[in-house]
This record gives sequence, structure tokens and C-alpha cells, in this order.
Amino acid sequence: MAHLSSVAVVVLAAGKGTRLRVATAKPLLSIHGQKLIDFPLQAGQVWAKDNQVAVDTFVVLGHQRETVQAYLQSRYSNLNYVIQTEQRGTGDAVKAYLAQNAAAATYAWTLIMCADTPLITPGVLAQLAQAALSRGEAVAATFMVDYPTGYGRIVRQGAGITAGSFKIVEEKDASAEQKQIKEVNAGLYLVPTAVLIERLAKVDDQNKAHEFYLTDIFTGTAGQAILIKDGATLLAGVHDMAQLSLADRELRLAKIKALQAQGVQIIDPASTYIEEEVSVAPECIIHPGVHLEGKTKIGKGTIIETGSILKNMLVEDNVVIKAYCYLEDSQICATAQVGPFAHLRPHSVVGPQAKVGNFVELKKATLREGAKVSHLSYVGDAEIGRRTNIGCGFITCNYDGANKHFTKIGDDCFIGSDSQMIAPVEIGDQCFVASGSTINKSMPANSFAISRGRQQTREGEADHFRAKKIDK
Ligand code: UD1
Repeated sequence: MAHLSSVAVVVLAAGKGTRLRVATAKPLLSIHGQKLIDFPLQAGQVWAKDNQVAVDTFVVLGHQRETVQAYLQSRYSNLNYVIQTEQRGTGDAVKAYLAQNAAAATYAWTLIMCADTPLITPGVLAQLAQAALSRGEAVAATFMVDYPTGYGRIVRQGAGITAGSFKIVEEKDASAEQKQIKEVNAGLYLVPTAVLIERLAKVDDQNKAHEFYLTDIFTGTAGQAILIKDGATLLAGVHDMAQLSLADRELRLAKIKALQAQGVQIIDPASTYIEEEVSVAPECIIHPGVHLEGKTKIGKGTIIETGSILKNMLVEDNVVIKAYCYLEDSQICATAQVGPFAHLRPHSVVGPQAKVGNFVELKKATLREGAKVSHLSYVGDAEIGRRTNIGCGFITCNYDGANKHFTKIGDDCFIGSDSQMIAPVEIGDQCFVASGSTINKSMPANSFAISRGRQQTREGEADHFRAKKIDK
């Protein structure tokens, strides 16, 4: 298939997004584990790669430009930036791009996208490119919508419109009759750069909004308005919080469908949240109310029960994560079991076949193969050896108020319930610690420790104590 020669991708991201009523810059709103602007940028990059189109990408910044640029620079190394000092409309934004990029005219085509259309796909861009190639003319993407309020209307017939042309009339400037039109402008254009330069030079701000409308480049010129199938979803803009949540939901459901197609069992898609960069291997079962976030990776055959939240987790094959766990920045090795109600804080490792039970918190702790911490424990800055069993209610006292200290427990140890280790302390292999002990001295391998008050049992004295209580 023929493909476009060089293309400049211009992403408009200077606007304020007033209707959102938040201080956060609109391109940086969080959605589906990323930011709003990531989605059009990535769609552009994937489209260019899949179709072998040479592109350079330019982002037009304005409102909160330093913050937006800092974010983009932290994620992408191949973007160029343009500044629109005053937000005087989409036409003005593209004028700023042309003025600040001496090489703008050298690209055969200019693809203009808005930063606030997160559902856009490489497929939509391919449709645009195909239309552009077929006639060599400027293309604007359109879609049909039941409630067109706020969008520019596509006027295909009327004064000044000849065969093969159309015009876009903004809401503010539309007549009552034009407002009835349900075909609207998506804000996505592919234009021969020479045409863009020539037409934009003629665009003024003589309209109700006193803005430079980019859309005016189509008035009185040969161009194509192409209707995108499912455009009302794929090209929906985000202008308020309600639209943001709708777009988020669409992205989420698309991700879930893609995982289902690869053999992941997701019991209730409506209540499952799996962010874009997460990967889940086949034969996993994801129960309702699970959140998989960030760069989480889940291995084959793993089961994640209701209500568990995983952020940037590496989970290997055949792990069972029981209900209501909060797990972040840690690793769970194959066939381990975690939960219910477990908390893994960053830099923890649950080894192969190890077990972390209910109401257990791990922080910077490693459980080696087959180690068990089954109930009500805190293990921080610690390493627990292979097959070691930690009883109920165990605590590593790792913090002295100023510094954190390390606890190391060897292989095949038995640590009785209700014990504490006052770090730093090192327990050798095959040690035995009696229940209720407070250990503050290291133990060599194969030793036994008991450290608790001696029990006194005075027969027949219970009645005496009860009587004392009643007297009071
Ligand atoms: C624009 C179109 C309208 C279309 C709608 C689709 C114009 C004149 N109108 O509406 O026909 O139906 O998009 O959503 O183009 N921006 C800048 N600088 C500015 C103004 C806007 O960079 O001075 C950016 C915004 O950050 C945003 C995009 O342009 O990413 C669209 O801006 P927005 O204000 O949402 O669009 P409208 O002009 O209302």
C-alpha cells in the first residue's frame, strides 16, 4: 500500500480546560493509569510505526507549559515543543507551530490532533491517511452525534460551498438551522502542509469568540470531511469530569477485552480495573473488584481474589492472592500464596512456595523458598530463611526512632508465636525460639532461646483474687 511521505504530527495541548474545574493542566489528567495526552501521542506513534510513515511530533504548549513539558520529557525522548503564549484559538496554536518551526514547510503533510481525545486509535489515523492519499487533499475527521452542542458543525451544502468542499461552523456562530446538524468536527485533520500554510495565513478572528479558528482553513477550499465509524466514541473529547470517567471506562473495557482474547478469565469486567501497561498471562483468573495498576506483570495461572490492589507488582506463575490484599512494588514468586488482607510494601519478595497469611505486613522483607508468616505479623527490613515458620503475632522491631535495622533469620527455624526480634539481630539456621520471647541478641545455628518472665502458679488463690475484685 502506498504511504504518506514525511508527516509533522502537531498535538494541540495549550488550552486551559476551564470546564474541568481543577488546577491540574488538562493534558495531565490521570486516566487509565496514564495521562490524557499520552493516548493521542501513542496512537500517533503506533500508526506511524505500523505504516512506516516518517513522523516528527510537535506538542503545542501554553497553559501550565512547564509542568506539561516536564512530564512529557520524563516519558518521551522524541518530542519537540512549541509555545503558544496566549490561547487565542486552535488556528493561533497552529500559527505558533508554523512560526516557531523553521522546518515546518518541509513536511509534505501535517497531522493535527487534540490532546484531549484519549480514545483515538491508530486505525482512525489510518482511515484519515487513506483518504488523504486517495485525493491528495486536506481531510477533516467527523462523526455523528445525537447531542452536537459544543462541537463545530459540518456544513456540506449552502452558500460558498462547491462540489468537494464543506465548511465547519462553530457552535457560537451557527444559525438555528446549522445547530440541528448532527455531523460534527472531531478536531483531527491531515492537511498538505503547503495548503495549511496558505490557508492559515488568511484566517482571522472575526467571529463571535474572537478566536483564530483552525477550522476556517476548510472554508472555500477543496477538502474532504470523512465520517469515522464509531467516531462518537473513538474521537470523543474530554471537556469535563463526566466525559473523563466515560473515556476511562472505555479504555478499561478495551484493555479487559484484549486480555480476555488472550485467555485471561475476568469474572466481572465492570468492576475490574486493569491499567494500560499491565500484562496478564493466560489462564489467570481475576475476581471482581481487583485493581492491577502501573507496570504490574502477572504470570500464567495466577488467581487474584476479590478486592486486591496490585501496583507495579511482579507476580510469577500459579500464585494465589486471596481477597483484599494491598501489594506494591514487590515480587511474588511462583506458587506462593498471599492473603487474605495482606500488605506488601515496596521491595519485598515472597519466595517460591512461601506463604504470607492474613493481617501480615512486609516491608523491604524477603521470605525465602517455602518460608511461612501466616498470621498477624510485621516483618520489616528482614530476611526469613528457607522453610522457616514464623508463628502468629511476630514483630521485627526494626526502627529505633532514628534508624532502621536489619533482622536475618536462617533456614529451617521455628519462631514461636508472639515473639519479637529487636534489630539488628541475626538468627542462625535451625534455631528454635520459644513463644512470647523478646530476642535482642543474635543466636548461632541450631540454638534454642526463651526470653520471657517465669510463670508462677499459686494453687487455690483464684477465689481470693475474685473476692478482692468484688470488694472494690
Ligand atoms: C474545536 C473545534 C471544533 C471541534 C472541537 C472538537 C476549532 C475552532 N473548533 O473546538 O470544531 O468540534 O474542537 O473537540 O478548532 N487549544 C490550543 N490553543 C488554543 C485553544 C485550544 O492548543 O488557543 C487546544 C486545546 O488544548 C485542545 C484542542 O486545542 O487540545 C481543542 O480545544 P478546545 O477548546 O477543546 O476546542 P474548541 O475550540 O472548543
